[in-house]
Amino acid sequence: MQQKLQNTKNLVSNVFNQVYDKYDLMNNLMSFGIHKSWKKQLIYSMKPKSNKKLIDVACGTGDIAKLFSDLTSGECKIQCVDPNRKMISIGRQKLKNYKNISWKIATAEKLPFRENQFDYYVISFGLRNTKNLNKTLSEAFRVLKKGGRFFCLEFSKINNEYLDFFYQNYSKLIPIVGEFIVGDKKPYEYLIKSINEFINQDELLELMEKNKFEKCKYLNFNGGIVALHSGWKL
Ligand SMILES: C[S@@+](CC[C@H](N)C(=O)[O-])C[C@H]1O[C@@H](n2cnc3c(N)ncnc32)[C@H](O)[C@@H]1O
Repeated sequence: MQQKLQNTKNLVSNVFNQVYDKYDLMNNLMSFGIHKSWKKQLIYSMKPKSNKKLIDVACGTGDIAKLFSDLTSGECKIQCVDPNRKMISIGRQKLKNYKNISWKIATAEKLPFRENQFDYYVISFGLRNTKNLNKTLSEAFRVLKKGGRFFCLEFSKINNEYLDFFYQNYSKLIPIVGEFIVGDKKPYEYLIKSINEFINQDELLELMEKNKFEKCKYLNFNGGIVALHSGWKL
């Protein structure tokens, strides 16, 4: 399943090239810090165990890798993957003391790893940015071990009309804040458009099942502003 907006030439890479050095700051501002709680809930749902292998795809600046590593006291191997050199360079710098984390420049649609390698696959606020959802999901399935679990944290569809009304209006402010902090509103216009155009919770669930994941389910956070999907390779 191709995503039209994300297939616009260089659009996504330009967006992250523009925002990489203010990415963490803007995340905190735009979500009032709530993204940290979403990410913590993701990590707790993963129930990290020691001596396991995690692949963090669309890792950006490495928030998920850090949380996972901290919860296992560094007793795990983490492979971070992202196509954007600049995002990765911030992550590497931030987590330079984490010797159990490796970094690789690659896309979610074509992972340079052999099959059946990882115990956990996670993609946090990344699936929406990929060019092809089916390719991403089939690659996730391929690199997971049998018994491994897929997790996706992503903006989704709000199930309450009042909250949705508030959120739609709040979203209009984000490019204005972006212009003030980053100097350009376009990356944040992309953010809002990509969220609005993204598939809903049930459509993603269906796509995961089509790509052979089993026992798929999702959990809404904050009325569906964000959803956490998970499924098993059995
Ligand atoms: C919103 S950031 C998420 C970063 C991090 N996972 C987090 O939760 O904060 C999205 C990331 O997706 C990456 N990305 C864009 N296209 C991608 C693709 N085709 N495959 C994998 N990652 C991609 C971007 O470079 C960016 O670092």
